[in-house]
Amino acid sequence: MSDIKFIDRSDMAKEVAVVVGTRPGIIMMAPVIHALTELGVPNFVIHTGQHYSPAMDSELFEDLRLPKPAFHIEDVAGKKTHAGQTAVMLEGCEAALMERRPRLVLVNGDANTNLAGALAARKLHVGVGHIEAGERSFDWRMPEEHNRRIMDHISELLFASGEKAAAQLRKESVPGEIHVTGNTIVDASLNHANLADRHSDALNRIGLEPGSYILATSHREENVDVPGNLEAILRGIGEAARSADLKALFLAHPRTVKRIEQFGLADLVGPDSGIVMREAIRYLDFIKLLKSARIVMTDSGGVQQEAYIHRRPTVTMRKNTEWTETLETGANRLANPESAQEIREAALAALGADIASWPDIFGDGQAAKKIAMIAKEFVDR
Ligand code: UD1
Repeated sequence: MSDIKFIDRSDMAKEVAVVVGTRPGIIMMAPVIHALTELGVPNFVIHTGQHYSPAMDSELFEDLRLPKPAFHIEDVAGKKTHAGQTAVMLEGCEAALMERRPRLVLVNGDANTNLAGALAARKLHVGVGHIEAGERSFDWRMPEEHNRRIMDHISELLFASGEKAAAQLRKESVPGEIHVTGNTIVDASLNHANLADRHSDALNRIGLEPGSYILATSHREENVDVPGNLEAILRGIGEAARSADLKALFLAHPRTVKRIEQFGLADLVGPDSGIVMREAIRYLDFIKLLKSARIVMTDSGGVQQEAYIHRRPTVTMRKNTEWTETLETGANRLANPESAQEIREAALAALGADIASWPDIFGDGQAAKKIAMIAKEFVDR
């Protein structure tokens, strides 16, 4: 067997590989996959297997009408550390890329999945395009911040959501080409809002009236893996719901469900807590519940954006956010995840937010088309 460790450009196929593996990554890549196919750009999906629960994976592929992945990496679920998880995905992506030899790999966001895809491609001399480039939380505790910075510096194409992200990339002197395209989360949210209205019966099923509840999520490692933070978050959400006489629907990531049990916090989501907890649900149900919520409380990057697009006032239970533009419009406010009181007060303030005057900061819903056209031009070069 040859010991040459890279692929010569003349041996590459005029194809695009799209790497996905986490729930938000699949959602945000769906419009790009559809746009590539509509433009006639040959493409295939590598699924890293980072997320594997049906609501975070197979059901999502059905809801978003996505083709079956050409490659599905096994054995990631058992890995417990960042290095272990990333290593399996890195090797899996490398094998898939060696087999198909595409000219370009597209990755998005900041999860370990995307770092693995980008790094495997870079080492093989395959082009890398990073969607949602240039976002920064400036928080070195977050694995996502490490991933974003590395990906941006090894990509040839950088797709920025807006001018602020593009300016950050220029400031860091990244070597790749910067394109401002808008964010594909807008395309995804707009495409799927109608489908959700038609197909989701989540409100009836859970017994909720539109506008009568808080929608809450929390899954970030630096929150849910720290007992004090997870406790403050659950207390803060519960107190906010009880003070405002609303229900709080807490949609818990599998990791969060596990930690609540492990840290003995089940009482905080019990019958008198003000919180109704459900495990991760199907995406169309999620969109329906988000659109109909009074306010949203979260520590997710993607949910902050989706709430903004659907004009739901938001409390972000973090000390910082990549999406500082949402703070400036008054749509979103930060609450320290160590303080139940701060979380409760932020929620009560969000209930009075003015939702009439928020500009379209994440783009116009055409990001996927723009990205697909630039990808086409790149593989044809
Ligand atoms: C990952 C991303 C995060 C993204 C999030 C979206 C990294 C470093 N983090 O975090 O940026 O916002 O995805 O959801 O890549 N688990 C399941 N079923 C699943 C997936 C996870 O049970 O389908 C459990 C497992 O116990 C796993 C834990 O959740 O060990 C954490 O999963 P992991 O993929 O490591 O990180 P996320 O918290 O999902």
